Amino acid sequence: MQVTIDVNGEERTAEVEPRHLLVRFLREDLGLTGTHWGCDTSNCGTCVVLMDGEPVKSCTVLAAMASGHQVRTVESLETADGLDPVQQGFIEKHGLQCGFCTPGMMLTARALLDRNPDPSEQEIREAISGQLCRCTGYLNIIRAIQWAAQHPAQRASALAQSAGSEP
Ligand code: FES
Ligand code: FES
Repeated sequence: MQVTIDVNGEERTAEVEPRHLLVRFLREDLGLTGTHWGCDTSNCGTCVVLMDGEPVKSCTVLAAMASGHQVRTVESLETADGLDPVQQGFIEKHGLQCGFCTPGMMLTARALLDRNPDPSEQEIREAISGQLCRCTGYLNIIRAIQWAAQHPAQRASALAQSAGSEP
């Protein structure tokens, strides 16, 4: 069957089997390997992408179900204007160790901040509660998301900073 999915602002059309998973479509057909695949049980959440702005586990969504929808992967976070504040927050607060859970964590954080720019710690914990991190103990991830909430204009200032540092 043919599917057409808006991936990171670009319409992508492909012939897929009806059982084809969105995570496979993104990783294998489009080469967007920033979306990780960590389990076969829908438990780990490392495969999270945004579908119409909401976090979904792409290992539980068929490509056919995503047809006609907007999907956003981690590759979309950095733009020509610089890193997304969420990405910068993970750098500033050391929100990752091995990095395997990080793409999904950052996309969940982006969706949370888009609907709630000033979340409480509890709201952050609830937002990421469907995702596992085996490394960090979650504390630095929470601090990274709090940092992003406190620096919503970081992308613009990073651009200004880098322009100012040019010789
Ligand atoms: Fe583990 Fe999707 S890969 S929940
Ligand atoms: Fe290793 Fe989260 S940083 S699983």
